[in-house]
Amino acid sequence: MDRSRREFIKGMSGGVAAAFAGIGPGFSARGYAQVRGANERIRVAVMGLNGRGHSLARTFARQPGCRVAYICDVDRRTFERTGAAVAAIQGDPPKTAGDVRRVLEDRDVDALVVAAPDHWHAPAALLACKAGKDVYLEKPVSHSPAEGEMLVAAARTYGRTVQVGTQRRSWPNVIEAIKELRAGIIGRPYFAKGWYTNNRKSIGVGAETPVPDWLDFGLWQGPAPRRPFRDNLLHYNWHWFWHWGTGEALNNGTHMLDLMRLGLGVEFPTRVASSGGRFHFTDDWETPDTQVIVLDYAEKVSMAWEGRSCSGRKIDGSGAGALFHGENGSLLIDGNTYLVQDLDEKVVREVKSGADVDPRNPANPADSLDVAHVRNFLDAIRGTAPLAAEIREGHVSTLLCQLGNIAYRTGRSLVIDNKTGRIVGDPEAAGYWAREYEKGWEMSL
Ligand SMILES: NC(=O)c1ccc[n+]([C@@H]2O[C@H](COP(=O)([O-])OP(=O)(O)OC[C@H]3O[C@@H](n4cnc5c(N)ncnc54)[C@H](O)[C@@H]3O)[C@@H](O)[C@H]2O)c1
Repeated sequence: MDRSRREFIKGMSGGVAAAFAGIGPGFSARGYAQVRGANERIRVAVMGLNGRGHSLARTFARQPGCRVAYICDVDRRTFERTGAAVAAIQGDPPKTAGDVRRVLEDRDVDALVVAAPDHWHAPAALLACKAGKDVYLEKPVSHSPAEGEMLVAAARTYGRTVQVGTQRRSWPNVIEAIKELRAGIIGRPYFAKGWYTNNRKSIGVGAETPVPDWLDFGLWQGPAPRRPFRDNLLHYNWHWFWHWGTGEALNNGTHMLDLMRLGLGVEFPTRVASSGGRFHFTDDWETPDTQVIVLDYAEKVSMAWEGRSCSGRKIDGSGAGALFHGENGSLLIDGNTYLVQDLDEKVVREVKSGADVDPRNPANPADSLDVAHVRNFLDAIRGTAPLAAEIREGHVSTLLCQLGNIAYRTGRSLVIDNKTGRIVGDPEAAGYWAREYEKGWEMSL
C-alpha cells in the first residue's frame, strides 16, 4: 500500500471502522454497500482456495472496509466456487490468478492471505513483505525453523503487519481464560497438556501418474525441490509428507502449544522430546499419526502435547483442548469455553460460548469466531489495534512443534538454548533447521 492510501485508511479507521464491530457471517451485501467510506478499502488477495482459503476469502469479503481483489490458486477449478461466493458477498467478483508473484506486482493489492500448503507459507509471506504487502499467514508460519526466523526479520526489515492464523488468540473466552490464568486463578500454573484427536482415514498407496490438466504442479511445488506427481498427494494429503507438509504437530499442535505457552507465560524451552509413529495404517503417510511432544522450561514448568490423528477418543469431552494444572486447581480450554476446577475437581468457574467450534472441520473450525481474528488484522493495518498473533509469536509457537518433530525424527531428546530456541550440541538434529529449495527459489531477506 502506498503511503497516502495507508494514511487515509488509518485516518478513516477511528470513526468508520469502529462502527462495524461484530460484523459476522450474516452481514448482507446490501448492508455492506451502504457503508460510508467503504470505497477506500483494504484490498486483499487470497492464495490457496481449496479448503481454508475459501473460508477466509468469504470472511474477508464480509468485512466492511475490505475487499477481496484477487483469488489465487494453481488448481483452476477452484476459481468458480470461491469467485461466486466472494461476489455474492461483496457484489463484484475478484480477479483470478495462478501465480502469486503476478498478484504481488499489482500496486492495488494491500495484503496477501496465505492459505496454500505449508511449504509455501514462509516463501509467499517473504515475497509479500518484499513487495510491500501486509500478510495474514496461516499456521504453521514455516516449514522449517530457519524460515520462521527469516520471516520475523522480514516483517521488521520491510515494516509489514504480519498476522498468524492462530485465531484462538482473538476468541473472547480464550482471551479471558488466559487473563484468569495469568492473574492466578489456579495459583501458579506449572504444567499444561494439549491435544488433538481425529479419525482420519488412510491415504493409501499412491501411484505416479501424469499431472492433471487443471493443475500447475510446478507452481504447486514452488520452493520445494521437484518430486514426481502422485495421485494421493492433493488436495490436503500433502500434510502427511515431510517434503511439503509438517504433520499433525504443526497442523493442529500449533494451536494448542500456542495457548499453552501463552497461559504459562514462556517462550523457548530447555529440553524437547517426542515419541510416536505411523501406527494405525500402513500407507504412504510419513509423519506420525500418534505423537507425544514434551517440553521442559527453566521457569519450572512443563508442557506436553498429544496428537492422535486416527484414534479420535476425546479427552475431557474435547477433541482439541489445553488443560493447565497449577497449585490450586486446573483450567481447561475447549473451543471458546473454559472450566476452572479446584484440586478436588469442584467447579470454580465455567464459561460457555454461544459459538460452535468443530476442530475436525478441516477448513473452517469456527466460522463466526474467525471474524474477530480477521478484523484484528484489518484494524492493525489501520493502526487502531495491536496484532493478536504477530509473526514472532507465531514463529515461537511453530518452533516448539518443529523441535518436537526434530526430536521425533532423530529419536532423541534435544537440548535447547532457551534464549534463542536453537538446538545445542547435536549437529544431526540441527540439520533439520533449514530445508533445501528448488534452484531459484532460495529464500533471502
Ligand atoms: N487456522 C486454521 O484453523 C486452519 C484450518 C485449516 C487449514 N489451515 C491451514 O491452511 C493451509 C491450507 O490448508 P488446506 O486444508 O486448505 O489445504 P488444501 O490442500 O485443501 O488447499 C490448499 C490450496 O492451495 C492451493 N495452492 C497450492 N500451491 C499454490 C500456489 N503456489 N498458489 C496458489 N494456490 C496454491 C492448492 O491448489 C489448494 O487449492 C494449511 O497450511 C493449513 O495448516 C488453517
